[in-house]
Amino acid sequence: MSEDQNPCHPQTGHMDAAALSAAQAAEELAWLAAQLNAANTAYHRDDAPDISDAAYDALKKRNLALEAAFPDLKRADSPSEKVGGALAEGFGKVQHARAMLSLGNAFDDDEVADFDSRIRRYLGMEADQPLIYTAEPKIDGLSLSLRYEDGVLVQAATRGDGAVGENVAANARTIDDIPHQIRDAPAVLEVRGEVYMSHADFAALNTRQTETGGKTFANPRNAAAGSLRQLDATITRSRPLRFFAYAWGELSSPLAETQSGAIARLAGFGFVTNPLTQTCAGPSEMIAHYRAIEAQRATLGYDIDGVVYKVDDLDLQRRLGFRSTTPRWAIAHKFPAELAWTTLEAIDIQVGRTGALSPVARLKPVTVGGVVVSNATLHNEDYIAGRGGDGQPIREGRDIRVGDWVQIYRAGDVIPKIKDVDLARRPGDAEPYVFPDTCPECGSDAIREDGDAVRRCTGGIICPAQAVEKLKHFVSRAAFDIDGLGAKQVEQFYRDGWIAAPADIFTLRDRYGAGMQQLKNREGWGEKSANNLFDAIDDKRKIPLNKLIFALGIRHVGESGASLLAHHYGSWASFELAMKEATIGDSNIWDDLTGIDGVGDVLATSVITTMQQEAERASIDALVAQLDVQDVVAAASDSPVAGKTVVFTGTLEKMSRAEAKARAESLGAKVSGSVSAKTDLLIAGPGAGSKATKAASLGVETIDEDAWLALIGDA
Ligand code: IVH
Repeated sequence: MSEDQNPCHPQTGHMDAAALSAAQAAEELAWLAAQLNAANTAYHRDDAPDISDAAYDALKKRNLALEAAFPDLKRADSPSEKVGGALAEGFGKVQHARAMLSLGNAFDDDEVADFDSRIRRYLGMEADQPLIYTAEPKIDGLSLSLRYEDGVLVQAATRGDGAVGENVAANARTIDDIPHQIRDAPAVLEVRGEVYMSHADFAALNTRQTETGGKTFANPRNAAAGSLRQLDATITRSRPLRFFAYAWGELSSPLAETQSGAIARLAGFGFVTNPLTQTCAGPSEMIAHYRAIEAQRATLGYDIDGVVYKVDDLDLQRRLGFRSTTPRWAIAHKFPAELAWTTLEAIDIQVGRTGALSPVARLKPVTVGGVVVSNATLHNEDYIAGRGGDGQPIREGRDIRVGDWVQIYRAGDVIPKIKDVDLARRPGDAEPYVFPDTCPECGSDAIREDGDAVRRCTGGIICPAQAVEKLKHFVSRAAFDIDGLGAKQVEQFYRDGWIAAPADIFTLRDRYGAGMQQLKNREGWGEKSANNLFDAIDDKRKIPLNKLIFALGIRHVGESGASLLAHHYGSWASFELAMKEATIGDSNIWDDLTGIDGVGDVLATSVITTMQQEAERASIDALVAQLDVQDVVAAASDSPVAGKTVVFTGTLEKMSRAEAKARAESLGAKVSGSVSAKTDLLIAGPGAGSKATKAASLGVETIDEDAWLALIGDA
């Protein structure tokens, strides 16, 4: 930046904003973003301001004036959206006021009936009591959360990992279906829905892209995602995106008493809601509406991949609440998978982070449901041999061989699978597949333990494939999610011996920030990107306990299992201590661990084994020494039961056991299945047996259901 105290764009900077053409304004806004972003970096990151405060303010003022005159040209990386601090390379991050969750799936009519029975059981409703649901198409696009404050659109966030998304407000403003302003709305209103592209617009876009030598898209969903995440909002504007509203996040006042009423309110505010949304009196009507929507699927003009059912009564939705990542009150009934035939060219074996040898089918590329598929999973050696998990024949015992014609199926985003094989077209020389009994990556024995469907490499951390996969998992989005450190970088660093285990990530700056071998001198890296990476790594030293436990990549411990453990133990210190002292199958710790709702023997055994294994422990200890692990704070610390361990026993009369548990947990209590010296409170209904006796002998306070409801203010 020059010394000029009043810097301005050389051509248009002195002109009145309103006098500019759109092209001139766009060009000057791009210039302003570059100037201001460079100045921000110099000031905040490098602590070396290169322009005066007055010059900075003049640029900022000019940027605001142009944005006011040309609101549609506001850039995704607009400097006016940024507040100090280090700047993200792309979009600003947004913490969702209410998590953006996903949906559980049902694949057939029985699973829809099960969904209804589960809900009735949870709510303690009889089979003949009325229960209304809404049914609507599941749009195959990407979800977006629009935040309106006093009726003005102030933020538009992508789902991201569900907790934190990216602010794409400037791009969202270019979508015609999204109002910039709404009347008579609650002061805070977050409207959620799906951004998608119609079939016609998708075809036209791909034609245009081909003509101009641009990138074409595999399907409308990818086109919608790519278009919404453009850093230059003028590109998004040229892409015809649409939006259906179907849900909401934070609200300052309720929209209605029912789901259908709330959707009608959203329509009243000017949002587009799906015309195929309908209320249904129960599973048979829901399934009938599913069939009706399925029959129209091909002529709708946009992609849908199923039907979503939601409990209509919002008070019941509130009582039902959420599991860790999905609501209990909604489910997606998916359409059957799409099928195609092709030939199997080879079977490769991949080694995962837990040593599992996974066979992958390499296929002659084939289009299935609009996507070109060239790989599919073959699950395990039994699946290839034509045996199911129970040892019984599958595909009537037909095995799969290289050279075979195989049928591929693909449902939604899941990895394509092989469903069947055509023996009539099997080449004469096709040989049965012999599954390897050594690891193709490290040569160690690969063994199958009793009861395990999977053959596993016994190499542990000496196996490079396991080590790399563990690292990739560690940096993945739901785990440490380090900006600039993805699967590709991890592989390179591992290959070059820069990182062998997670702890090494946190010493990269010390080892490669200066001196002979510097990251900034590597191909593909420079001073800025190297520093950004080191900063991004430092940012993640402070890590929530659940993310750390998930990141360790312990077998059977997924995101929700990690969350359960984190909530139960609260801090790394108590988790670690318990795991160190636990005995599998027998001890107070074991009872306490398996007493967690959602933690079974398999998960418990796996955590204890891993945490007690010497080499693993050394690696974990070295990692934790680099971190500042954040304790889990009880959800509602002002509740009288926050942090207390409670046990329910006997018959509850006002609500089901499941609802009572969920309610207690939402108030910050820990619910355990067994009474121990750690139990603070036993809630005993009629018929309480040995737990009440044990509580009495341990001096644990015991109350009845009514006293419990009074205690938590639900009476
Ligand atoms: S409701 C708390 N309704 O499906 C649940 N989701 O698999 C809120 N989706 O992330 C979601 N159409 O992106 C809902 N009519 C619909 C939907 C829908 C598409 C997407 C959404 C969500 C995903 C879950």
